[in-house]
Amino acid sequence: MIDVQHLTKYYATTAAIEDLTFHVPEGEILGFLGPNGAGKTTTMRILTGFLPPSRGTARIAGFDIVEHSLEARRRIGYLPENTPLYTDLTVRQYLHYMGRLRGLGGKRLKSRVDEVMEQTRCDDVATTIIGKLSKGYRQRVGLAQALVHDPPVLILDEPTVGLDPRQNSETRQLIRSLAGSHTIILSSHILPEVSQTCQRVVIINEGRLVAEDTPEGLTARLRASDRLVVQLRGPVEEAVALLRKMPGVLQVTPDSHEAGRLYIDCAPQSDPREAIAAAIVERGWGLRELRPVGMSLEEIFLKLTTEEPPLPVEAAA
Ligand SMILES: Nc1ncnc2c1ncn2[C@@H]1O[C@H](COP(=O)(O)OP(=O)(O)OP(=O)(O)O)[C@@H](O)[C@H]1O
Ligand SMILES: [Mg+2]
Repeated sequence: MIDVQHLTKYYATTAAIEDLTFHVPEGEILGFLGPNGAGKTTTMRILTGFLPPSRGTARIAGFDIVEHSLEARRRIGYLPENTPLYTDLTVRQYLHYMGRLRGLGGKRLKSRVDEVMEQTRCDDVATTIIGKLSKGYRQRVGLAQALVHDPPVLILDEPTVGLDPRQNSETRQLIRSLAGSHTIILSSHILPEVSQTCQRVVIINEGRLVAEDTPEGLTARLRASDRLVVQLRGPVEEAVALLRKMPGVLQVTPDSHEAGRLYIDCAPQSDPREAIAAAIVERGWGLRELRPVGMSLEEIFLKLTTEEPPLPVEAAA
């Protein structure tokens, strides 16, 4: 449903995103995860036709976002990072206006406005001026305007940012309820948040795709990053036996192709690198390499998990 190929965007000479390729099948919620400045908003602005790509292509339901911009945009509901709400209109007036802009009219317009207000639970503020709404209600109105023309694709840029725990959990529920009938990309810089909402996650860092997996798969890969690779010159069987006995070492597996190369699985947070190096050197075996595998992904995860979202009310109770 959403097909992104080699997408690249330069601001002046610096690349904000570089060679992004991913695909979102119909009905899926994809989490678009990355630390601040990773390029999430830039990608979403390209997908929604607000920015032209420097290179690469993106298609929405088969329509190229540059060549068939109108057809592509008609199929998208977009919640921008900072929703440009008209603060002196009432919620109903604003949704009416946004619906008209997107080609709705007459009875259909009126019924769609009523439907999305009910769906996003802002019907109780229908006649309130937007300028007087709380952050949580504004976010709901933002979602309502993204939904008003009933688009099959939703692009939501950090939809839960700034919400309190209850609003956060309500918004997540609403988004989950839209999956299946909608194809959704949802961005966030908080890992646990996308894990709870999305079926699949794409992680970008400094404009590049660094991982694409299910939330469960990512967790498994994160565990696997407590893995070291060692290259040594010496008696391999003896080395394996020695290393297996060391504290923090769970498993030692010799590489089946390269002699002297060992993979060491370590207990979480044990980091026995120095002890391993010392033990090898002490026996006079040549230590040619010792490094963690998958460190860069681990570093990104660190950046992505330092800011925990508040607990949903149900979980806290
Ligand atoms: N209009 C612009 N002109 C120049 N550079 C820009 C512009 N917009 C974004 N950038 C740069 O492009 C990079 C990606 O920014 P982007 O806003 O897409 O990241 P993001 O992942 O949405 O970050 P955040 O989590 O903070 O919202 C950043 O380095 C940013 O400074
Ligand atoms: Mg952003």
